[in-house]
Parts: sequence; C-alpha cells; structure tokens
Amino acid sequence: MNREYWNQNADAWFGKTALPVYGEMCPTEDQLGLFGDVSGKKLLEICCGSGHSLKYHGDQGAGELWGIDLSEKQLQNARGLLEESGYRAKLLCGAMEEDLGLPQGYFDYAYSIYGIGWTTDLPGTFQRIASYLKPGGTFIFSWHHTLNYCAGWTPEASHGWQGEQIPLTRSYFDEEPFRMPVDGMEIILRNRKISTYVNALSAAGLCLERMVEETDSAVLAAKPETFKEKKAHMLPISVIFKARKL
Ligand SMILES: C[S@@+](CC[C@H](N)C(=O)[O-])C[C@H]1O[C@@H](n2cnc3c(N)ncnc32)[C@H](O)[C@@H]1O
Repeated sequence: MNREYWNQNADAWFGKTALPVYGEMCPTEDQLGLFGDVSGKKLLEICCGSGHSLKYHGDQGAGELWGIDLSEKQLQNARGLLEESGYRAKLLCGAMEEDLGLPQGYFDYAYSIYGIGWTTDLPGTFQRIASYLKPGGTFIFSWHHTLNYCAGWTPEASHGWQGEQIPLTRSYFDEEPFRMPVDGMEIILRNRKISTYVNALSAAGLCLERMVEETDSAVLAAKPETFKEKKAHMLPISVIFKARKL
C-alpha cells in the first residue's frame, strides 16, 4: 500500500524532505553540522526518495553515494536528478526491512531523512543498518517527533487541526499501525515512543551520540500565526537521532 502511494505521488514529493532540511520547522544540517566532513566518505541513504539528499552530499564531495527505496518511481526520479548533476550513485529498489545484498561493514555513514518511521520492523531495520556500517560509522535519521502525532493531530485532520488549545488526541503509548488518508489514497504508519527508537538503536549496537528535539530558531522568534506554528512553539515537530556503531 505504501509502495503504491509513493509510486503514484513521487513527482509531488520531488525535492521535499531532503537535506539540508531534516524536517518541518526543525534546524537544518547547515545549522547543526551533524555529518561533519563527508569528503571521500561512503554514504548510504535509507529511503532515498528523489535523490536530493544524495545530491546534497555529492555537492559536499562524498566519495560514494548509495541509496535504497521501496518505490521504483522515486528511484527513477533520483537517477535522473543525480545523472544530470554529474553524480554516479548506486540505487537499489527494495524495502529497508529486507536483505538487499548491500555490502557489510562498508559505509562511513548511513542516514535517512523522514524515512525510518515507515519501517514495519524497527529492531530488524536498525540491525541491518548497523551491519552495513564500518565500526565507528555514523547513523543519522530524522522523523516526525512522537509528540507531534499525540497532540492536536489525528490521521484524518493531520494538516488541518483548528483551535486555540492543543489537546492530547492520541496516547503516547499507542504504537499500533494506523491508516492515514493522503492525496485521495491511504498510507500505513506507526507512531513510536522515543524510548522505542533509543532501545532499538542500543540493541543494534548503535550508541546514541546526539538527539535533536528543537524548533527552528526563526520559527520560535516569530509570532505564531497558524496552529502548526503555535504547536511548534510548545513541542518539537521533528526529531533527529545521531548514533555511532560500536
Ligand atoms: C519522505 S520520502 C524521503 C525523501 C528523501 N529523504 C529525499 O531526499 O528525497 C520517504 C521515502 O521512503 C520510502 N519508503 C517507504 N517505506 C519504505 C520501506 N519500507 N523501505 C524503503 N523505502 C521506503 C518511500 O518510497 C519514499 O521515497
């Protein structure tokens, strides 16, 4: 179902949710510098979408660019973008939960920008990602902050909640998959507790180095007008994790 959504809507998401942007109303990589110097390094993007984050790293001098994604249409767009930008990337179509034959102990960095939360098997996915990294390699990912989906949010009113107050609309403990209507179709997502991510990283031998739960300073400095802006003044909309393979 999710593959079908991404195949049909790839063009509408072209270049969205890609580095240097980590997520909505969140500090950018230009502000945070979580990657550091990637020149000459081997990078793997999980859920690489339209390839814009890979291009971003190509522009920073990365040595090898690899990407995996569930959607053939997304990869078609990524191939076009990277080729016209003069970059050779290895792009594989498949699910992050599966064995796609990626090299073990090979990458300096694995990362994912608004991709990891789609997994149906978080512990298994983190185990796989850890296996692709060299010892000491870095894993960085961003996703919706768990609280974003617990407050002033329902799958049916994900973009249009109204009101002055921000009610708790969903239990923080609820990690069951749910269906969400988007663009006249349906996707399936889960909202996981922060401890679920931290514990799965730890179980995979990935040591948490930094977690970013911040709203962008420009958003905080401005008077909030929309409901989303009011919410972003009170809780993080996105979260970023940076971990190192032991
Ligand atoms: C928000 S987009 C990521 C965009 C990407 N950061 C970029 O720079 O274009 C999420 C991507 O996750 C992919 N995806 C969803 N579930 C997946 C899975 N189980 N395995 C691999 N990719 C998946 C979708 O096809 C989609 O391209």
